[in-house]
Amino acid sequence: MFAVLFRLWLLTDHRNLYQPIRTNIEVLMAFSLKKRDFLLVGIAIVILAFLWQAPPESTSRVPYDNDHRQFYDIVKNDGKKAAEKFCEECHNKDAVPFPEGHPAKYRCLFCHKMQSP
Ligand code: HEC
Ligand code: HEC
Repeated sequence: MFAVLFRLWLLTDHRNLYQPIRTNIEVLMAFSLKKRDFLLVGIAIVILAFLWQAPPESTSRVPYDNDHRQFYDIVKNDGKKAAEKFCEECHNKDAVPFPEGHPAKYRCLFCHKMQSP
């Protein structure tokens, strides 16, 4: 008698029995995945915001005056490298000295942007 019942029980679809457990695990996994995703997105936003706002306003721009106006054309026509060759004719320790602790002196226009005239 018990053997028959047991066989019947084996034949039934007892996936249902595990259903509650499985759903709980799935809900848990989905939740932790979402939490991790939010964390990653949050970190990405912080890094992007940092990169976005750090450079632009920190370094002084090349003035648009009589000394520098010529370079705006050179940059437009021949590129930054062509213009930078002339900077140190004036920007050297005898004429217009660099501020103390000025970083490496090549590629001026890499750090000092042109203004929009
Ligand atoms: C004819 C000489 C001369 C040349 C060439 C020259 N400069 Fe200048 N520059 C000056 C003088 C003088 C000043 C300081 C007075 C001023 O602010 O205009 C100055 C100031 C600057 C400043 C500081 C601006 C500020 O806000 O204080 C930057 C940046 C600068 N120059 C970048 C450059 C770069 C980059 C080049 C090369 C593309 C260059 N200069 C070539 C004469 C020159
Ligand atoms: C690695 C980045 C970098 C490079 C390359 C660079 N500079 Fe600078 N420069 C700075 C920073 C940062 C300052 C200080 C903050 C400021 O005043 O802009 C500065 C300051 C200056 C100043 C004084 C600005 C002021 O307001 O008094 C002048 C002039 C200048 N740089 C000219 C030049 C010239 C000319 C070159 C190329 C020979 C050059 N820089 C290359 C980053 C750079």
